[in-house]
Amino acid sequence: MLFWVFRDANPCSQYFRFSFPHIASLSSVSHSWRFSFRITGSIVGRIYNSPTYVDGDVVWTSPITNGIVKENNEVSTESGSRYFLSAAPIEEEKKDDAGEAKPIRPQKAGTMRMAPENLAAVLQEMTGKINELESSLGLQKGASGSSSGKQKIDVVLGAQWGDEGKGKLVDMLSQEYDVCARVAGGSNAGHTIVVDGVKYKFHLLPSGILNPDAIGIVGNGVVVHLPSFLKELDGLKKEGVKHEGRVFISDRAHLVFDFHQTVDGSLEDRLGRNKIGTTKKGIGPAYASKISRNGVRVGDLRDWDYFEQRFRALAEYHMRSYQGLDIDIEGQLAYYKSIAPRVLEMTCDTIELTNQKYKAGKKILVEGANAAMLDIDFGTYPYVTSSNPSVGSVMTGLGVSPKKLGGIYGTVKAYCTRVGEGPFPTELNVLVGEGSHLASVGHEFGTTTGRPRRCGWLDLPQLKYSITINGYTSINLTKLDVLSGLKEIPLGVAYKSKDGKYLDTMPASLGQLKDVKVEYEVMPGWDEDITKCRKFEDLPLNCQRYVQRIEDICGVPIRWIGVGPNRLDVIDRGEAFEQE
Ligand code: GDP
Ligand code: IMO
Ligand code: MG
Repeated sequence: MLFWVFRDANPCSQYFRFSFPHIASLSSVSHSWRFSFRITGSIVGRIYNSPTYVDGDVVWTSPITNGIVKENNEVSTESGSRYFLSAAPIEEEKKDDAGEAKPIRPQKAGTMRMAPENLAAVLQEMTGKINELESSLGLQKGASGSSSGKQKIDVVLGAQWGDEGKGKLVDMLSQEYDVCARVAGGSNAGHTIVVDGVKYKFHLLPSGILNPDAIGIVGNGVVVHLPSFLKELDGLKKEGVKHEGRVFISDRAHLVFDFHQTVDGSLEDRLGRNKIGTTKKGIGPAYASKISRNGVRVGDLRDWDYFEQRFRALAEYHMRSYQGLDIDIEGQLAYYKSIAPRVLEMTCDTIELTNQKYKAGKKILVEGANAAMLDIDFGTYPYVTSSNPSVGSVMTGLGVSPKKLGGIYGTVKAYCTRVGEGPFPTELNVLVGEGSHLASVGHEFGTTTGRPRRCGWLDLPQLKYSITINGYTSINLTKLDVLSGLKEIPLGVAYKSKDGKYLDTMPASLGQLKDVKVEYEVMPGWDEDITKCRKFEDLPLNCQRYVQRIEDICGVPIRWIGVGPNRLDVIDRGEAFEQE
């Protein structure tokens, strides 16, 4: 039968529309639907001639469990409803004199088989229309590799040097997810979310915890400074966010102690002008303890004697290694003993928890921290963080198989910023001209440290490198609104070495990277304020061209476009803008 063929035969086809009479739940009441049939198995559309709805009402049904439309045109849904469909030919939307779309009247029931070429045209038309419809109603299905019909783990990653706006996308998407997880890094991350004008800042907790129906997991790959973690929980509570029973922390996650933070600061001081520019949150020293196998883990708190022995050994090791470092061992032990019951209430085997949730068909979202160019392996070493913020951290930091991954969403600022030291090929002087525009209009100050962020043009060789590593299925382009008012916007499209040769790869050598000359393609700017735009077509033409050029060069669809800091300041172009 037609529906069945279409759902599975063409994975690119996201939507399909029919007009057909519809008989709900075996009742004899017949009314007509105009609807889209999503590959995810849900139906959204306008209903006409219904005894319950006003003509033209938009109705969203629960997802269809298996998508089978049987010979008798019966469709079963997850909620147990049964629908009997009978397809009829599509009728073009009629407009009245005022240009308003008139509802399509129900058509005579009859079975129809549509030619593939007609279907393709309908499909194209509908993709845009249904996206519009869904986003105006807030019905966009977030994300999820669910287009395959199976829940997969979706991942939001930083594609540049951090602070791209990952938190905002996670917050938006998380409304649709059951589990939100952090898998790497620590309180060096800083994710700002603005909901109804209220700013929330997250460092260790997954931002998705703002969804009251979701649970938050801090995976084994994260390094946790418990005093900061508890403070963050308390802060959320003050803001009225109830988190009790919804936050789980891996017993395998390593602890960051105050002395790790002290050491982080003194190592930076010792480096002087060669400093990394770390956040001084103790990330490097804590991961060093983990890798040196003398770290202490959250789960160690379950056995106080063991914890005490491991802590003493680690503290003494640090005092021996860093002259002048004085650790109040007894004071620290007393503190950890006092917080142990509260922490252990949240501590569990998150590998088991996550995989159980996966098996149960729950939707899982991973909130990446830090970013590709800060990756200890792939970034601008040594000006990097001490973990792997790239896609690999989902497997190593959460304990799931790569087979379970679905959408991988690369978050990319419409320009570039960087906090801390290290090469930055498209960097501008933030004190003058366009650099100053990006810094001031974009409020480019670090969420964690408050340091001014360095700013520059979008660097596409860097982005392509990040795409190679992480394999983004779609891109979340943020802060496009910040570019409004610029006459021209140069896009970095290629790197050339000192001797004028094009570079095909990202140089591992810092010296070479510092010397690259960036070739720019200059795009015309726009003056309009775009913060109220909710559809791609609403954007000024030059703005659309800028987005399309990035998409063309990178070859990855740009699904989300950020037009302002608020939760709703986003254009979602829908699942059609995701690669399978
Ligand atoms: P993250 O670390 O990647 O989560 O990003 P941060 O939260 O550290 O920094 C991103 C900043 O940009 C935050 O202040 C966000 O509120 C803000 N932001 C995110 N998306 C947009 C956008 O589309 N437009 C504007 N103007 N601000 C945005
Ligand atoms: P989010 O998740 C921006 C940078 C620091 C420094 C380097 C090493 O908010 O995008 P570290 O303290 O990790 O040892 O510092 O990495 N850095 C970030 N910059 N955003 C982040 O996270 C960062 N996490 C680390 O500024 O240059
Ligand atoms: Mg940040």
